[in-house]
Amino acid sequence: MSKTLLDIKNLHAEIEEEGKAILKGLSLTVKAGEVHAIMGPNGAGKSTLASVVSGKDGYEITEGSIEMDGADILELDPDERAKEGLFLAFQYPVEIPGVSNINFLRTALNEIKEYRGEEQISAKDFMAMVREKSSIVELDPKLASRSVNEGFSGGEKKRNEIFQMAMLEPKVAILDETDSGLDIDALRIVAAGVNKLKNENNAVILITHYQRLLDYIVPDFVHVLADGKIVKTGDKTLALELEEKGYDWLNAEA
Ligand SMILES: Nc1ncnc2c1ncn2[C@@H]1O[C@H](COP(=O)(O)OP(=O)(O)O)[C@@H](O)[C@H]1O
Ligand SMILES: [Mg+2]
Repeated sequence: MSKTLLDIKNLHAEIEEEGKAILKGLSLTVKAGEVHAIMGPNGAGKSTLASVVSGKDGYEITEGSIEMDGADILELDPDERAKEGLFLAFQYPVEIPGVSNINFLRTALNEIKEYRGEEQISAKDFMAMVREKSSIVELDPKLASRSVNEGFSGGEKKRNEIFQMAMLEPKVAILDETDSGLDIDALRIVAAGVNKLKNENNAVILITHYQRLLDYIVPDFVHVLADGKIVKTGDKTLALELEEKGYDWLNAEA
């Protein structure tokens, strides 16, 4: 039996400022070795789910629980959750002028190691890791030493995001591929990265509007999130069915 890496039970969350309920009893269990796709109409709460799991400010959890690898993470701040092994694409700064990607990642990696009581990585091992991981995600090694995301094209940013994920080796990665603006190249980059990085000990949650992305990454489970809950779960064929019939079909069925 694979180990459960993320266990969300009956999660209710609202926007703090407005007291507006967004997540309304969402449950999701993700085990090691699994890829989960979360689809659903605009405004369903997909990005809110990613934000709440990562611990972003501005949301109040009114009910339910989130456990990562068996430990309650609700009281942890985003930084601590990252050190526990959570990776959220876009959690890391979009652009940091003057700070090279590499220095940024070396600091992040050493903070994670310190948190786990492990030794700091040597410069030599770190550079070897950069070479290995940048080749896995086909990131031009020159980009790795440029300032974080400064002057990167859309595709380069995407590749860099996957490179960050490769370097930090998270237990659970959440990729919120927010709908517009992902061209076919970006889809391929994300897909190739996820396919190369997934293994028996980690899990990926892919939030997407695009059935197309799932032509490249075959998920073990597809969930439909609507009005703050998971309303249907299936295998990869569910994504095709959604593409064909739209989300209204689910309302008709209910
Ligand atoms: N910071 C915020 N302030 C006010 N409303 C928000 C905020 N974030 C999200 N919402 C609202 O929460 C709902 C869910 O949004 P979101 O999680 O972004 O949906 P999705 O990613 O599924 O399209 C929407 O009605 C959206 O308008
Ligand atoms: Mg969204």
